[in-house]
Amino acid sequence: MSENTVPLLEARGITKAYGNVAALTGINFKLDRGEIVGLVGDNGAGKSTLVKTLCGAHQPTDGHIFVEGEEVHFSSPKESRMRGIEVVYQDLALANELSVAENIFLGREMKQPGFLGVIGTMNRKAMRASAVETLESLAIEIKSVETRCGTMSGGQRQAVAVARAIMWGSKVLLLDEPTAALAVAESDKIAGLVAGVKDKGVGVILVSHNLPQVHELCDRVVVLLRGRVVTELRRGEYSIDDMVSWITGAALHKR
Ligand SMILES: Nc1ncnc2c1ncn2[C@@H]1O[C@H](COP(=O)(O)OP(=O)(O)OP(=O)(O)O)[C@@H](O)[C@H]1O
Ligand SMILES: [Mg+2]
Repeated sequence: MSENTVPLLEARGITKAYGNVAALTGINFKLDRGEIVGLVGDNGAGKSTLVKTLCGAHQPTDGHIFVEGEEVHFSSPKESRMRGIEVVYQDLALANELSVAENIFLGREMKQPGFLGVIGTMNRKAMRASAVETLESLAIEIKSVETRCGTMSGGQRQAVAVARAIMWGSKVLLLDEPTAALAVAESDKIAGLVAGVKDKGVGVILVSHNLPQVHELCDRVVVLLRGRVVTELRRGEYSIDDMVSWITGAALHKR
């Protein structure tokens, strides 16, 4: 098969149990390059669990995950990051005691061996400059990249987390409710950022309860109900009411 016909990311038969709670059952899922796929469902439907399973934060109980056709067994998000998969978690994972710039480079600042001591200081300068450049290019307004994240609002922290993911996510972005804590204008900005990375060929999985935004932004929407995929809706072929009907399960009884 040529590379272009192989999905960027694929899940086959993913099942995840937490003790005797079946959070996911037999999930099949594909994401292509330059595609934005919405992942919707009620509270507890399994959306965050699927995101965590895809990035290696949790291990599936059963099933297989493929990146560009190759089976992967990520034992941590660090491993999936090395394959170009970036995640923004619903429960934000910014370090509150660190600055914006430090958070953006968290876990990557040590990559160049020898960058210690005096040279380390220079490296921090470069990191700050690069963080400023990234935030500016994404039109994210943060007073200073030296600000400690713990002193920022929830929305500002979310913007930093999304910026970080966009900056590093070379292939796949997994966004678990990236706009949940945001005001309308900020939420629209994040939507614009997501649309922008799509144009670069990045594949995006967007978990959101903001159904109008999902409807507008996503090429395809996968609906989860009690840990199972109940339908896939394609852009232009469904209304927001249809989506609600699938999310609540009402559509299942209409058929
Ligand atoms: N770490 C955990 N341990 C035990 N059960 C869990 C854990 N995480 C999630 N669950 C359970 O798995 C199911 C799916 O949860 P999940 O967080 O994936 O839902 P969700 O679709 O993301 O919901 P929401 O819209 O509220 O974020 C729920 O029944 C939840 O209680
Ligand atoms: Mg969730």
